[in-house]
Amino acid sequence: MSQETSAKMMTRLCRADEVTPDTPLRVEIDDEAYAVFQADDGYFVTADLCSHGPGSLAEGFLEGHEIECPFHQGKFDIRSGAPTAPPCFEPVRVWQPEVVNGELFIARD
Ligand code: FES
Repeated sequence: MSQETSAKMMTRLCRADEVTPDTPLRVEIDDEAYAVFQADDGYFVTADLCSHGPGSLAEGFLEGHEIECPFHQGKFDIRSGAPTAPPCFEPVRVWQPEVVNGELFIARD
């Protein structure tokens, strides 16, 4: 179920402390799945579904800003969604999360 703040129309994803560098989080809202990551310089959100196939990026291995898909080991930059290693050639969508009172929000369409 989505929870939106009325002033900014932001959608709550999760508590910030539910995500650590070693444990990305998959969040599903209104049939859309998001992968939430923590890197050294903050939080990042991508579509959870790999652009190459059925891999869940939240179940992948994060190194720096690069997430490795657990399915065929393709990689993406979590800042831009750009593919950084084959077999991934199509980007995944990204959102810029905001942290408000220890909770993460994104602006959805
Ligand atoms: S499903 Fe992600 S690399 Fe193939």
